[in-house]
This record gives sequence, C-alpha cells and structure tokens, in this order.
Amino acid sequence: MTDFPFTFDLLFPQGLPSRVDNHIQRRLSALRGQFLDQHAYQAMLDVEDCLLYEVYEIRRPELPGEMLMGISVVHPGKVGREFFMTKGHYHAVLDTCEVYTCLKGEGVMVMETPEGETAVEKLSPGKVLYVPPRWAHRSVCTGRAEDLVTFFVYPAHSGHDYGTIEQRGFRKRVLDGPKGVEIVDNDG
Ligand code: F6R
Ligand code: ZN
Repeated sequence: MTDFPFTFDLLFPQGLPSRVDNHIQRRLSALRGQFLDQHAYQAMLDVEDCLLYEVYEIRRPELPGEMLMGISVVHPGKVGREFFMTKGHYHAVLDTCEVYTCLKGEGVMVMETPEGETAVEKLSPGKVLYVPPRWAHRSVCTGRAEDLVTFFVYPAHSGHDYGTIEQRGFRKRVLDGPKGVEIVDNDG
C-alpha cells in the first residue's frame, strides 16, 4: 500500500495537534517512588490521583525508516519542592535519538547516559533540543501556572525502556528553591 504525505496542524494557543491517534494520560500514581519527598507524595495521592502529563501521539508503523511524532504536555505543579515531570525512559533500542521542540511554557529536559554522564537543558518556546542516541530523557515543567508543551519526533523502532529509570531514578532532580529552579544530585 502506498503511503501518502499528510499534514496536521498544531492548534495554538494550546499547541495541541489537530490529528491525534492515541491520547495518554499519566497520573501521580504512575510515578510512585520517583519523587524525593515521599510523605508529600502520599499526602497528595490521598487527596487526588492528579494528572501530571499527557501525550498526544500520531501513529505510524513502528518500523525503521518511519518516525513517531506527537505532543507532550506536562502540567504545572510540585510534589513537595519537586516539579511535575514525566516518568522518563531510555529507548529500548539504545542507539536511537529524539528531537524536541518547545512550543509553550518553561521547563527543562533532564538527561543521562548509562555510563553516568548527565545533562540538563532549558526549554522555552522556540528551543529545539537534540537528544542523542543513548541518552535517557525526562521533561520537567518549571512554570508556575503554564503547561510545558513540546513537539517530539523519534525513530519509530526505538521502543521504550522505563524499568531502568523506575529502579534507579535519574541522577539529577529539579527542585523549586529560594532562588528559583535548582538542579540537585539525587542521593536517594
Ligand atoms: C518518546 C518520548 C516522549 C515521551 C513523553 C512522555 O520517546 O520521549 O514522547 O514519551 O514525553 O514521557 P514518558 O514516555 O517518559 O512517560
Ligand atoms: Zn523518548
């Protein structure tokens, strides 16, 4: 079957795509064990399993040569002093990259390699971030009231490895400090 080129729109001011094949919502309960302040985590969860982030995916066959695209929306908020964030992952095919373009809001991408290199890049509207192969990545919304909205694209055969981060966490955390956003070592 021949594939035909297609377009879709990013609808501003929200930045959401006009075409969505799959909508994922991840709530507080999906990030059990990931936030530093476990008491604050449990206290929040006892009140409500609140929505941390959403992903709007455009489906393509998961084959080499294809690309997967979509929009990620991380909502503003904190657990204790730690900003809302995505689970974060390595790609199962470690040697695959990803490109993020920030459309809206303020945030950072926390990244690391299996060898222990770390990087944190700021995201604001117009920034394009290249995540090279082998780098795990987690988006963090550091805005007080505005969503962090990014457009992502990555090779369709990448797959996801969530387990490594679930077990070990990232080496860096992003906290709200007296002087603003603080990047600290994860000693946990
Ligand atoms: C895909 C990718 C993004 C994330 C999204 C949600 O490889 O990096 O589409 O999937 O930002 O984050 P996770 O998947 O870590 O829950
Ligand atoms: Zn990814």
